[in-house]
Amino acid sequence: MSEQKYMTVPLFRANKVRAGANPLVMVTAYDAPGALIADRAGVDAILVGDSMGNTVLGYEDTLAVTIDDMVRHTQAVARVRPHAMVIADMPWMTYHVSKAETLHYAAALIRAGAQGVKLEGGRQRTAMITALTEAEIPVMGHLGLTPQSRNVMGGYKVQARELDDAIRLIEDARLLVEAGCFSIVLEGVPDAVAMVVTELVDVPTIGIGAGISCDGQVLVFHDVLGLLLDAPKPKFVRRYDNLAERAVEALTRYARDVRTKVFPSEEESYHLSASVAETLRQRLQKEGKEEGSYFVSGADE
Ligand code: KIV
Repeated sequence: MSEQKYMTVPLFRANKVRAGANPLVMVTAYDAPGALIADRAGVDAILVGDSMGNTVLGYEDTLAVTIDDMVRHTQAVARVRPHAMVIADMPWMTYHVSKAETLHYAAALIRAGAQGVKLEGGRQRTAMITALTEAEIPVMGHLGLTPQSRNVMGGYKVQARELDDAIRLIEDARLLVEAGCFSIVLEGVPDAVAMVVTELVDVPTIGIGAGISCDGQVLVFHDVLGLLLDAPKPKFVRRYDNLAERAVEALTRYARDVRTKVFPSEEESYHLSASVAETLRQRLQKEGKEEGSYFVSGADE
């Protein structure tokens, strides 16, 4: 993406690889520094994912994430005014009860700075998706391994491996597009199923553990950068760095320098001017206080 261009929902929606577009790049981010890093790297979209439950809030799953969590983190991401499109996840139980609630919670995310929302599920969500799109709220769908369904799925398992399940997922994708989704995330599905969906729908598919045929890819920020200590690496993740280990190593050096009084150095300290230091020294001497060895002459620049 060019430095000056802001990604919009219509621009994103037009990016079908079969129509000659380059694959779209999406990554999660949950705060201002993360959003700035992702934007500087030139990604097309930032997903304020409810994966923040696992990556930054310390929960075991995404079910504990609330709308307040999502709003606060979406605001933080939006504050850096990224060129990338910002999409916010609708947390569990914010789009399940009624259209009124769904619209209310989605509006909170748009007001927080998202350009669109993402929600999980197939045919059972189409009424809500239609209500959202009719209210001018762009919706990204999410099919396959949908983490908010972990209890129903019996864990995080690759979906649509069997024929009937694959056919159902393909049909769900069609229904989501019919309901108004401008894009669909395909998570944890066989590459052939993702390829069929990508060929059949005219909106971009964004894969995560869904093979190479999708119109784009998404990964979790902390997975790409290796920011989670001792975390297992799922098969579909490519880790581009090991920042957590490097951070431990850096902080270990910091701790050592503090304990051995190597930090802070004179250059890292503020100093009195020579004249103020001398006057202070004389005044303390007059008052009978001991002269400290802490008078370092020379004013700061
Ligand atoms: O919350 C999230 O990070 C996601 C991606 C894994 C697609 O939904």
